[in-house]
Amino acid sequence: MSTLKNYFGPGETEGGPTPANENPPLHPLPASWYSSQDIHELERRAIFSRKWLLTTHKLRFPKTGDWLRYEIAGYAFILVKDREGNVNAFHNVCRHRAFPVVTEEGGTSRIFSCQYHGWSYGLNGKLAKAPGYQELEGFDKSKNGLLPIHVHIDVNGFVWLNLDAGESPEISWEDAFQGVDLQPRFKEFNFEDYNFDHAWEMSGDYNWKILADNYNKFYTPSTSNPGSYTVDTKDGKSTPEEVANGLKTSSTYYFPNAAMTVLPHLFFMQRLVPMSPTTCSMRYEVYRNKNSSDDEFETISQIYKSMMSENKDRCVETQKNLNTGVSANGQLHPTEEGPVDFPTVVRGLLAEHHKREEDAGEQIWPARQRLPKEEAVSKEDMDFCSKLTSNDASALTAGGCCGGGCGGGPPTIAATAPETMVV
Ligand code: FES
Repeated sequence: MSTLKNYFGPGETEGGPTPANENPPLHPLPASWYSSQDIHELERRAIFSRKWLLTTHKLRFPKTGDWLRYEIAGYAFILVKDREGNVNAFHNVCRHRAFPVVTEEGGTSRIFSCQYHGWSYGLNGKLAKAPGYQELEGFDKSKNGLLPIHVHIDVNGFVWLNLDAGESPEISWEDAFQGVDLQPRFKEFNFEDYNFDHAWEMSGDYNWKILADNYNKFYTPSTSNPGSYTVDTKDGKSTPEEVANGLKTSSTYYFPNAAMTVLPHLFFMQRLVPMSPTTCSMRYEVYRNKNSSDDEFETISQIYKSMMSENKDRCVETQKNLNTGVSANGQLHPTEEGPVDFPTVVRGLLAEHHKREEDAGEQIWPARQRLPKEEAVSKEDMDFCSKLTSNDASALTAGGCCGGGCGGGPPTIAATAPETMVV
């Protein structure tokens, strides 16, 4: 936390950050924010653990028991359709010894069975069996279910997640995005007319914010939804010829890391998954209109794939220059509404969270599970770990002595277990 003062402390110039609630300068984020491990970890806490994340569409769960494994910012989770038809999300962490409950990408199951010691869970996350624990005095099955994640499904069937471990997320979906699913331009499309077709991904050697910035150039901020950005496609940026060729497009970028584009023949979702300060993965899901021919679908699908590859190449080159440290922060033109707004939102969220942590005297990980005393690790153990951490500043910045349970936070993006704490 102490090293973060270099990013938020006084005396910053040349496009340096400003504290929350002040008018930010029209500057992009400093180059260091695209390679710093500290900033990356702070983004995990301040953004990806707090904001609603567009993740997939309910079309991917046609049957009871259909499930998919996802990850974002180091948190691995499962989405599954239960017997009541609900889509649930759980951390992919066994409550016994934290082994992943699923290791495949997806499937259809009646139950989740951990391969390590055989604990099994229902589609609603409840613990079904824990071999050897039946007779254990004081063991309460009802308190050892999978750790849940908040799910919201909007009116168009898109599935959103929020990793905030509170009973209700601090940021409600309604406050952040209400109305974004009711945009008049969506009325032209019936999302039930599409089927999931395929998923694909690319990895990129660049910080996720570079591509988000890149998207942003094509979007204008929504005045009614400050957390979202929508393309002005009242008539589309589509020409009459494009409309005639099935290329009438409506695209929406959802802060922080997702975009969705819908056309008559397909819609596709793109998620930017940060993997480290300087790497990310771009994950795509493509849904095909049931009434489109192979040619119609493939032609448009390929056009978008090559566009995505071009975007990737630009981002890689940008990151190379940012890494040199030579890059100075150019001032943005006020008419560049999209690019101005993205850094402002990021800067504000990080500064606000950092202030909270300074006030609390420790890192705040909103995705950390808050379990009752009797279920959580011992406070004594956590305090022991915290003391070690405070004696080792490098351990703090790297995630703490125990990988997060002590308050130092998970060590790297690869961490999958949600931390527990005593409340
Ligand atoms: S870690 Fe899953 S059953 Fe032991």
